[in-house]
Amino acid sequence: MSEVTVIYPGSFDPITNGHLDLIQRGSHLFSRLIVAVLTNLEKEPLFSVSERVEMLESVTEDMANVSVDTFSGLLVDYARRKRAGVILRGVRAFSDYEYELQMALMNRKLDSKLETVFLMPAGEFLYISSRLVKEIVHHGGPVTGLVPALVEERLKQKFPAASDKR
Ligand code: PNS
Repeated sequence: MSEVTVIYPGSFDPITNGHLDLIQRGSHLFSRLIVAVLTNLEKEPLFSVSERVEMLESVTEDMANVSVDTFSGLLVDYARRKRAGVILRGVRAFSDYEYELQMALMNRKLDSKLETVFLMPAGEFLYISSRLVKEIVHHGGPVTGLVPALVEERLKQKFPAASDKR
């Protein structure tokens, strides 16, 4: 395998089992995988950047070729700084396709050497999203199996009143 660094960018607010599945798959395909958390989110995140990084580091600690980092500004500039030739993104349902296609083609326009590679998570994770996970916990519902156990705990701490309802 040639030495290829891949960047897996996202908000990860918070990391789900779908993200983790993708990180595992990517880490087997590429020599080095950097999970890159975007710091200048337009939307108001539930977890701070440092909380998200800490959770990502904990759940990937056994993966030797995976590291966690943060970035701001354009993804193509960050990828160039990291000497990464590939961007990794996950596609779940058909609904992801349009957004992902637009981003991949725009990134290619900005840097023609940068390729975006798409992987599909295992079928059991196809319906998971950070947004739905937060919504469920907010209303006191269970998210076991949707996120790593550590993330489930952190979510309960964010919504203590909701977890009392259970
Ligand atoms: O998990 P998300 O929120 O779908 O991730 C989106 C992300 C972080 C990959 C995207 O918003 C991004 O790359 N932002 C950085 C700014 C940038 O490069 N924008 C142009 C992309 S075409």
